[in-house]
Amino acid sequence: MAYWEQDIAEIILTEEQIAQRVGQLAEHISADYQDCELVLVGILTGSFVFLADLMRQLTRRCQVDFFDVSSYGDDMTSSGEVAILKDLSLPVTGKHVLMVEDIVDSGRTVAKLVEVVKDRQPASVKVCTLLSKTARRELAVELNYIGFEIPDYFVVGYGLDYAQRFRSLPFVAVLKDDAMLTHRE
Ligand code: PRP
Repeated sequence: MAYWEQDIAEIILTEEQIAQRVGQLAEHISADYQDCELVLVGILTGSFVFLADLMRQLTRRCQVDFFDVSSYGDDMTSSGEVAILKDLSLPVTGKHVLMVEDIVDSGRTVAKLVEVVKDRQPASVKVCTLLSKTARRELAVELNYIGFEIPDYFVVGYGLDYAQRFRSLPFVAVLKDDAMLTHRE
């Protein structure tokens, strides 16, 4: 039995489904940025798996940088505050910026960071997210590339965590209720 089997209630996106969709997104993005270099901006920590797979499928030159923010901590609900813990290292003025998220839930994180980037006068800013939970949106944010629209389940895997665990699962899954109690610490 795999180490995760006792904790997982249901796999909602398989490794194959994710890989296929990431390839399609990369194709769309590569087509949309034909003559320009991109700055891919990942939002730590959850986006690093998606970003790593996406960037290797792009057929355009790109730079990569990261924001780190605090919002959820180890809890399952947003504190409503988004504070920048690590800013970008690269300048983005005059650059084409693509923000890369694992999931957009309330929209607070990405809305805040798009504003921060826009203040630096980039050539353009767009958002690519693997997962979107429209049902939980609190702020209207334009999502230019969406991998999958998902229902309001708490999901883990492919970069997404519960109490910093389960990020390494190659699929996206719903945890069992008792796994949430076990892994709360
Ligand atoms: C998650 C996710 C997004 C954010 C989305 O990050 O990676 O950044 O929440 O939620 P929102 O749309 O309600 O703002 P989290 O704060 O859990 O941190 P992590 O990426 O380190 O897991």
